[in-house]
Amino acid sequence: MEFFIDTAIVDEIKEINAWGVLSGVTTNPSLIVASGRDFREVIGEIAAMVGGAISAEVTSLEADEMIAQGKDIATWNEHIVVKLPLTPAGLQACRVLTDAGIKTNVTLCFSVPQALLAARAGATYISPFAGRVDDIGWDGIDLIRDIKEAYVQGGISTKVLAASIRHPTHVVQAALAGADVATIPYKVFTQMVKHPLTQAGLDGFMKDWAGRAGASAETP
Ligand code: E4P
Repeated sequence: MEFFIDTAIVDEIKEINAWGVLSGVTTNPSLIVASGRDFREVIGEIAAMVGGAISAEVTSLEADEMIAQGKDIATWNEHIVVKLPLTPAGLQACRVLTDAGIKTNVTLCFSVPQALLAARAGATYISPFAGRVDDIGWDGIDLIRDIKEAYVQGGISTKVLAASIRHPTHVVQAALAGADVATIPYKVFTQMVKHPLTQAGLDGFMKDWAGRAGASAETP
């Protein structure tokens, strides 16, 4: 399973990208607003930093406008993936943009039927929102597993992009459910990397190293 980061805050992307674990970035209109940056400017900066897929979402609700906006966004950088909502207009735009050779990420997916429609409209990625499904008392990971299974059964190549990830356990569960990608918030990356035994082990190694024979006379 690949990792994308789910943020439009450049400093967060820079930090996690330096770990060498990122294959892409997802944004949405709320994340762009939270970054306090101009949409095109921040997407350009992100794309220059991370070589992989960069999802940038349309903000129109009508198919014709989505198509025009998607075609424009796709010119900003070769790695742009146009993000479209899972609505009839979004599906229509997905088909047109896919046929024009533009990569798409169909977002706000909450059911297998929706995911099957997006795949038939040519979506490159489908984004089921695990956390928001959990929020209404259902199981977001079951949704990811069911979509992946339906895609495998149908020989569908659309990639399952697990979204709305809230904690490291979600990441593990998404991987075990067969997600191709998980888009993960900055905070969850920082939680994933830590383990108390890693820190305790490192503290012990450093203490022993500092106490070795002749240590004070040498540089570490
Ligand atoms: C996906 O691409 C969305 O940007 C994101 O995962 C939504 O997550 P949220 O439910 O935490 O807002």
